[in-house]
Amino acid sequence: MIDIHSHILPDIDDGVENIKKSLEIAREAERQGITGIVATPHYREGRYLSTPGLVQEKIQELKAALAENDIKLDLYPGVEAYISQDLPRKMEEGEILTINNSRYFLLEFPPDIVPEYTVNVLYSLKVMGYKPIIVHPERYEPVQANPDLLYYWIEDGFLAQVNASSLLGVFGSDVEKIAVKLVKNNLVQFIGSDLHGTGRRDQCLGRGLNKLKRLTGPYAEQYLENAAAVINDEELNFMDPEKIKQSWFMGKIRSLLM
Ligand SMILES: [Fe+2]
Repeated sequence: MIDIHSHILPDIDDGVENIKKSLEIAREAERQGITGIVATPHYREGRYLSTPGLVQEKIQELKAALAENDIKLDLYPGVEAYISQDLPRKMEEGEILTINNSRYFLLEFPPDIVPEYTVNVLYSLKVMGYKPIIVHPERYEPVQANPDLLYYWIEDGFLAQVNASSLLGVFGSDVEKIAVKLVKNNLVQFIGSDLHGTGRRDQCLGRGLNKLKRLTGPYAEQYLENAAAVINDEELNFMDPEKIKQSWFMGKIRSLLM
């Protein structure tokens, strides 16, 4: 089991404060059966500059501490990139780390708006061969108000990751409800912890996965396979888009009739 979204690296963003806590989280991850974690500190202009050099340096530091403490956990580099107009240029310049140097990377939106330049940025990234994974769509107000927005991104071949914490109600019942809806309609392809520490936003991937299994049955396995595919830069073997379309629109029709 691989966690593709975490703020486990110490003292780099608003995630884990120190290496002692990183080790505590790593131990808990090992206990939950997690074999690898992608470290994805925020990359946000003017706030968090998780440059490739800095992320690699922190990864090496944590890897050494894991080995010293006999914790068996693989660590992979990445960032959670905040959308901006110049993101494609920054990708081209090698300023933004993808997940384990694959074509996949985590893309974050503002909580309350979808910037006007989004379509251009998404298509530029696609043309460049990147595969952006939109993180926690359930937490964005525009998706909560109109989940069709996510449907059309997915139909266009973009990907999305639900937070385990959202499924578990950490962000309240409204976010939980929308997270459940997206999962049940196969509009997300990944689950991640998005852990920030040992408190409220801790390593909850194991518990989140249990809930995902209750909601989607054996289909939850696909989420784990997708995470492994990303690490190896492989294609995803996900649900037939026609089936997603049918289930999404049939669900809409049913809710209109109710
Ligand atoms: Fe995050």
